[in-house]
Amino acid sequence: MKFFLDSAKIDEIDKAYRCYGIDGVTTNPRHIQNSGKPFLDAINDIAQWIKDNKLEGMDVFPVSVEINPHLEQAEEMVSAAKKIAKISKNFVIKVPCTLEGLKAAKELEESGIRTNVTLVFSPSQAIQAGRINAKYVSPFVGWKEANGEDARDYMATISNIYHAKGYQTEIIGAAIRTGREIALMAELDIDIITCGLAVLEEAFTHPYTEHGLKVFQDAWDHTKGN
Ligand code: E4P
Repeated sequence: MKFFLDSAKIDEIDKAYRCYGIDGVTTNPRHIQNSGKPFLDAINDIAQWIKDNKLEGMDVFPVSVEINPHLEQAEEMVSAAKKIAKISKNFVIKVPCTLEGLKAAKELEESGIRTNVTLVFSPSQAIQAGRINAKYVSPFVGWKEANGEDARDYMATISNIYHAKGYQTEIIGAAIRTGREIALMAELDIDIITCGLAVLEEAFTHPYTEHGLKVFQDAWDHTKGN
């Protein structure tokens, strides 16, 4: 399972790449806002970071960038996507899973611009992303769980359908909030998870590891001859 970082902050992307070997990045308008930069500056800085680190190429280090969420018509989505895609070969264009968004994604994929169908909340929405051969589909796990819905059943259904039908679209378990959800995605054979840096770091640590280290330090210090 690949790990993407959900962030538009260069310092976080850099740390997650160097320390934990993340495989790519996903952004959304909220992450761009949190970067403290205007949209174009934020994505241009990510494109520059990709170049500086010699990670050019969508297959090397994909970065999902979302179009302006106010766009409602497929034509305007396609036009915005084309402008963003020109900035970096690594950019995958996120389009919302609305009827117009799906129409735009189909047209973009047919013209060679790769897409990430986002804001997916049902298996039938995910099926359509697979049918149009989007590069990624992003069912939101954390938002479902926050709403009291069953993420296991939801993601298992999507995973089973994708495997049975042989869709090439990769499934991103999106808005992952806990280590438990990361493990669940792996168990369900989900291709990729995306989460923030704090979630990633919390998932890689455990209080018992810290406790055990203290126990062993104590033993070391009281070992004869040490
Ligand atoms: C995924 O691609 C989305 O950017 C993301 O997971 C949405 O999650 P958020 O609620 O952390 O912004």
